[in-house]
Formats: sequence, structure tokens, C-alpha cells
Amino acid sequence: MSVVIVVGAQWGDEGKGKVVDLLTEQAEVVVRYGGGANAGHTLVIDGQKLVTHLVPSGVLHPGKRCVLGDGMVIDPHTLLEEISACQARGLLARGELLIGAGAHVILPYHKLIDGLREDRHAATARAIGTTRRGIGPAYEAKAARRGVRVRDLLVPARLRELVAANMEELLPLIQHLGGAAPGAAEIERWTSDALAAGARLAPSIGDAGRHVYQAIKEQRHVLFEGAQGCLLDLDHGTYPFVTSSSTIAAGACQSAGIGPTEVDSVIGITKAYATRVGGGPFPTELHGAAGESLRQAGGEFGATTGRPRRCGWLDLPALRMGVRLSGMSGLALTKLDVLSSMPEVLVCVGYRVEGTEYDEPPGDPDLVSRLEPIYARYPGWGELPRDVRELADLPAAARDYVAAIERLAGVALTLVSVGPDRNQTIRISDPFS
Ligand code: GDP
Ligand code: IMO
Ligand code: MG
Repeated sequence: MSVVIVVGAQWGDEGKGKVVDLLTEQAEVVVRYGGGANAGHTLVIDGQKLVTHLVPSGVLHPGKRCVLGDGMVIDPHTLLEEISACQARGLLARGELLIGAGAHVILPYHKLIDGLREDRHAATARAIGTTRRGIGPAYEAKAARRGVRVRDLLVPARLRELVAANMEELLPLIQHLGGAAPGAAEIERWTSDALAAGARLAPSIGDAGRHVYQAIKEQRHVLFEGAQGCLLDLDHGTYPFVTSSSTIAAGACQSAGIGPTEVDSVIGITKAYATRVGGGPFPTELHGAAGESLRQAGGEFGATTGRPRRCGWLDLPALRMGVRLSGMSGLALTKLDVLSSMPEVLVCVGYRVEGTEYDEPPGDPDLVSRLEPIYARYPGWGELPRDVRELADLPAAARDYVAAIERLAGVALTLVSVGPDRNQTIRISDPFS
């Protein structure tokens, strides 16, 4: 039996969906542990694409249990749409989905507030550039102990009471942010829609924590799927330009209610370069034509919002921070093929500010804004051969680049991904063994 956590090592969109899909071959239970429909995880099999937002990326493998952990924030309507889309493809048979009753619910007022705040700060240095999916406001409600949980969707009187109490506090906020206060009829519609969604989801709602614990005790392989990435973690990321949940590996334990001693390995996913969506520091960002060419080569447009992703060189100090935060035992390097178009590939190996060098992102935002990346340069390798299955199939310069990342990150490579498809993968070691 093994318990494996897959975690984004950067600012999200590292290719977690692809890696989780691959590792689900061996797992019996796949657990999404954090965030909500801010995530967009892409799976490509034989050229066919599926993007998951809430449902675990193990969904393409029939017979596996797909669990939504209690640490998530779930928009019931988005979840129903996603379930329908999966079932239309013959996936997610009855009984395969388990929704944690303790997960929190995103309601329309969370999305309204998220959008109003974004509009207010748009185009200013304060704009976080959220996905407007209501993530922050839903986690705020949770921390304030007035959140609505999935279990509340099954008890109409309790849901009505909770919504009423929340609206009492939030109406002045909505107006302060420049929004139109929703009337009683609208609030009633939100509530009855949520109840109707709850009734449809009811057969899949249960005790996710106990299920996961039991699976571990029965010696089954359990795979945890992180969302976002370590640098977007609420406690340790580039605050305040972060999401509102625990995105690091520890979030898996917190979400499922298991102890850290149950975990056998943590696989961090990193692109061979770096991307970021939304605001916040990005020391290795490439502007202008250089950034655009990487964006086009990598198809770097958000899987959830369609926004162009900011692109830049691999940032090892940031990656090393992810390695430390999540205790990574293995690294999956993705999108190596995208760098084929580059005559030369740069990697940031440290930062300098006025003569002082840093090997991890400093916490002080004033320092961060003045960081100067220190780059190592590697020769490009041109197009990769069509069928790359082993490291030995790579051109020598690509092999050297991969080896340098492994050495500089200080973590052994588990796999290298050379294309979006499941079979465009060099498998190096088995995290479940
Ligand atoms: P996630 O949020 O971490 O699951 O990543 P996203 O799905 O948001 O973004 C990753 C994108 O890169 C998706 O479009 C994937 O299909 C694609 N992808 C994953 N691995 C590779 C790879 O090795 N090469 C290329 N070219 N694309 C990849
Ligand atoms: P996956 O799982 C990339 C970013 C947003 C914004 C910040 C806060 O696909 O890797 P939020 O809506 O969470 O309040 O936005 O976090 N963000 C992501 N960036 N990938 C994601 O998920 C993200 N989820 C949130 O762009 O900067
Ligand atoms: Mg994504």
C-alpha cells in the first residue's frame, strides 16, 4: 500500500492533471484535496481533451473512487455540470464519486463578492487577478465559522438559516463594493437552487475522511491530487497574491483528516519553465516577444478562465521553496518539449538585491520587487524525436538540462513529460513502489 501526494511545485498549471491521470493506473482512490473550480486540470488521451475543475483527474479510469475532500470549496452547480459531462462520456459510474459532507459550498454571493473586489482593483497593483469563482469569500466564511457545508444542502431549514445569517452580514459589504444588493426573491432563488443541487448530489455525499482512512488501513493505493501550486499557498506563498487555501502537501492531510505519517511519497510537478496567471511577483517573467513565443509554444492560456498565462524561465529558488514546503520525494518535470523552440534556455539559480544573494524568494515584498535573477545558461536542443520513452532518447543537450534541474532542485526525477498526451512520458520511477 502507498499513499502518494501530487502537488504543484510552482504557481499552478504545472500539468498535475496529466500526472494524476498517469498515476491513477495504480491507485484505487483519488482524492482532490484543496481549492475548488479555480483549478483547471487538463487530461489528453489519444488527442481527446478533458478539463476537470472539481472532479479528481483520475476520472478517466473506470472503477476508481474519486473523492472530493472536506478541505475543498465546492460550487454545486459546476460540480453537477462536470458530472454530467463525465457521464456523457461513459465515465463516473454510480458509486465512483464521493463528496465530502464537510466540504464548504460556494454560493452565488461568494462569486458576486469575488467579482466586485476584482473589478474594484482591476488594473491596479493590488489586483490579485482571481478566477472569480468565489474561492476567497467561501474560505473567508469558513474561517469566520459561518460557512455553508455540503451537509447543509441536505437540511433545508439549516441552509435557509445559514444563508439568512450570511446575507445579513454581507449585504452592506456588497453595497460597499458597488454591487446591487440582492433582493429577497433572488436570495430565495439562490437557496432553492442550492437545495435542488444538493438533492441531486445527495447519493454521492458522505464521510470522505473516514473513507480515505479506511482505504489506507485496507492497504489500498491512495493518490492525493493537489490544486494550484506551492507558491500560491495561503500561508507560505507570495502573499497576498495567493489563493485562499493550503496548496502544499500538508493540505492533503488537513483536507482528508489523516495524519502525516500515513503519507509515503510526495511528487512535485514543475514545468521546465515557469508560468503564472494573475498578479504578483514573477522574477523570471519574460516580457514582449520572448514571453509571447513561450506562451504560444506552450499553449499557455488558462484552462479555467482562458486568460493568457505570464511566462518566464524556470525559477529554481521558487522551486526549492516548493520542495521544502511540501517535503517532495520526487519531481515530475513537464513540458520539456515546449523549450525545443528556444536557441538557448535560461534557469534562474538565485537572486541578487544590491549585492546580497538569496537562494529562496525573500518574504519582504519590498525586496521581492527589486530582485535581480542570476541565470545559468544551457544550449537549446531543437525538436525532440517523435517517440521519446527513455531519457536516453533525448538529445544530449536536453538530457543535460534535465540532469541540471534534478541536481539543482535536489530531488530525484520521477518522470519527464514531453507532450500533453498520456503516452508522451518518460517514466523513471514508480512512486507507488
Ligand atoms: P494543471 O492545472 O496542473 O493540471 O495544468 P493545466 O491543465 O492547467 O495546464 C497544463 C497544460 O499543459 C495542459 O494544457 C496540458 O495538456 C499541457 N501539458 C501537460 N504536460 C505537457 C507536456 O509535457 N508538454 C506539452 N506540450 N503540454 C503539456
Ligand atoms: P490549477 O489547479 C493557476 C491563481 C489565480 C490568482 C490566485 C487567486 O489549475 O493549477 P483564486 O480564484 O484562487 O482566489 O485566485 O490564484 N490560481 C491559479 N493559477 N492555476 C490554478 O489552478 C489556479 N487557481 C488559482 O490566477 O492569481
Ligand atoms: Mg490548471
